[in-house]
Amino acid sequence: MIDLRSDTVTRPTPAMRRAMAEADVGDDVLGDDPTVLALEARTADLLGKEAAVYMPSGTMTNQVAIRAWTEPGDEIILEASAHSYFYESGGPAALSGVMCRLIEGRRGLFTGDQVRGVLRPKNEHFPRTKLLCIENTHNRGGGTVWPLQQVADVVAVAREAGLRTHLDGARLWNAAVAAGVPEGDYAAHFDSVSVCFSKGLGAPVGSALAGDGEFIARARRFRKMFGGGMRQAGILAAGALYALEHHRDRLAEDHANARHLADGLADLPGVDIDPTTVETNIVMVGTTAVAAPDLVQRLEAAGVLVLPRDAKTIRAVTNLDTSAGQIEEALAAFAKVLAG
Ligand SMILES: Cc1ncc(COP(=O)(O)O)c(C=O)c1O
Repeated sequence: MIDLRSDTVTRPTPAMRRAMAEADVGDDVLGDDPTVLALEARTADLLGKEAAVYMPSGTMTNQVAIRAWTEPGDEIILEASAHSYFYESGGPAALSGVMCRLIEGRRGLFTGDQVRGVLRPKNEHFPRTKLLCIENTHNRGGGTVWPLQQVADVVAVAREAGLRTHLDGARLWNAAVAAGVPEGDYAAHFDSVSVCFSKGLGAPVGSALAGDGEFIARARRFRKMFGGGMRQAGILAAGALYALEHHRDRLAEDHANARHLADGLADLPGVDIDPTTVETNIVMVGTTAVAAPDLVQRLEAAGVLVLPRDAKTIRAVTNLDTSAGQIEEALAAFAKVLAG
């Protein structure tokens, strides 16, 4: 099977498994797992932040950030299809008791004026707006990369209004490679940054939340409260550290494979796709002849796994385990399925 469901489906490479097997470990909840400490220090350094804390998932790093920046009854601003709002099981309401104010973005991106449009005057009738969240790359938007200037514009409006800013950078590594800038150039705009090691980087488990020392100390308390304190987590962190050192630059390959897939699909009948919108490793494919769930099933029968995004769109994601040859095979499978 050619598995294009997500970049989370990858399995650790032999070298990554060796690094994990040989990792020095301690009890991370007691603060003495050397491999976790090394991963946190390296992540904070790459992002230009004072500190970072390792957690089991990107959902947890996002939800801990929201909890740490707010109090129940506060409001946060997010894009309407942001992962933290759309795909995290109602976490902001359940775990932080906050309201979500949504901005309808264009492929996940929005403008400073749109932020201005949802700001509230200070008045006891309103919830207190505390946090602005941005997602880069934007998953449901199709792996969209935020231009740095647009980030600066949007964050400037938030700061003027006294808001904190959080970056869901599950795929910040992809954004940095695509934009040709260091991750820290993006991270510099935000009070907190979440990054994932288990997506494009190919590690089996884990994410980190970075920010200043005081914020990360507060986040550690909520990590514990949410059940994210792990013990000999260095075994997992070693995979993440290996991925960080060895798998960032190669993301350009995933992007080239995604673009090649999109270019090939654009020539097929029953498909609606603009390859120029494919900026990173996510390919959103509009289906005009059959419903998305049907197309997914037919592709599976032809040896290609993808996911439906909605009734008329499927999603294919290139990843560490996808070769250029597999893209050719996937295109042949698409051609066969769409012809039939
Ligand atoms: C943009 C974004 N943020 C957060 C997450 C959550 O990560 P996890 O699956 O590790 O909880 C994902 C997962 O795909 C994501 O795409």
